[in-house]
Amino acid sequence: MNPDPLALRKIDHVRFFVGNARQAAYFYRNAFGFDVIAYAGLETRMRHEAGYVLRQGDITFVLASPLGPEHPEAQRIVVHGDGVQDIALQVDDVRQAYEAAISRGAIGVSAPQALEDEHGVYEYATIRTYGDTTHSFVNRDRYRGVFAPGYKPLDPDRYSPQSFKPVGLLTIDHIVANVEEGKMNEWVGWYERVLGFNQLISFDDKDISTEYTALMSKVMQNGTGRIKFPINEPAQAKRRSQIEEYLNYYRGPGVQHIAMTTGNILETIRAMRANDVSFLRVPRTYYDDLLDRVGPIDENVEDLAELGILVDRDEEGYLLQIFTKPVEDRPTLFFEIIERHGSRSFGKGNFKALFEAIEREQARRGTL
Ligand code: FE2
Repeated sequence: MNPDPLALRKIDHVRFFVGNARQAAYFYRNAFGFDVIAYAGLETRMRHEAGYVLRQGDITFVLASPLGPEHPEAQRIVVHGDGVQDIALQVDDVRQAYEAAISRGAIGVSAPQALEDEHGVYEYATIRTYGDTTHSFVNRDRYRGVFAPGYKPLDPDRYSPQSFKPVGLLTIDHIVANVEEGKMNEWVGWYERVLGFNQLISFDDKDISTEYTALMSKVMQNGTGRIKFPINEPAQAKRRSQIEEYLNYYRGPGVQHIAMTTGNILETIRAMRANDVSFLRVPRTYYDDLLDRVGPIDENVEDLAELGILVDRDEEGYLLQIFTKPVEDRPTLFFEIIERHGSRSFGKGNFKALFEAIEREQARRGTL
């Protein structure tokens, strides 16, 4: 029995709308270790946009760029810069999920459609969520092609399999939204009412505040707990918080970060560092009393300190996590890499050290 009224299975893929998908694919391939598995564009008779499908473990990203200003989403890049357009959720039945969501108050973007090619039928429908972000409902049970109609497997001459090096990323753990001050509870209510999510944890500004940053956050999850969407809003603070900085540069609410799991964070972060990915650093003193704070862990503290990996523990176990710096020129989207050892929480014990690290970056940008 699926415990969701919409029969949600998992995150199918995340679609990014970007200025130059070809170059973005190069970045996610060579820095983050994704394989580029499919392409759509002029060569596949897709006339309005180019798309690249990237995969690592169970994670699928789609990078899309418009081929001209008449693309219905072309303005998105001017307004938001590169960012997440759509978080697609795999469902048992697209029509049933869409109709249930609409009857529960969702705003439709695309009514249910079935796209067909020689590999079968791919079904999807799309609704709006916060800002210009959408959720698609996707079902590919009757589709055997590489991704969706219009997409073709990649020309191996362009991306030789020998040069592809995965870094060990496995699944999407959670995807975080930043929304405007005072809007968090509206969106919490929307995820409860429309998608049938429930609230896993909440953090208020007493948990999450430094001298400058104050934010509130509630973590929403679907019935199986497989899909987790924390929602942040800025709280009153002395100076401009990181959430306000995001909202100013993204020009509205949107996806702040995507957390991806690994089974070996030391190897993953070593590989990503060697690929020139920039991570936030906490001061060396963070590690001085680490074991007093978190108790015994399997990893060597020196290794963690060398790579800047953070540790937190709750009643169920511990977790290791680290955050990239924003991956665009605008200080908007970034990524988290996380390895869970029993803990199902979000690293509350690291918030202060982490936000101070973000504030040092904000000070460099003159946005604090
Ligand atoms: Fe996170």
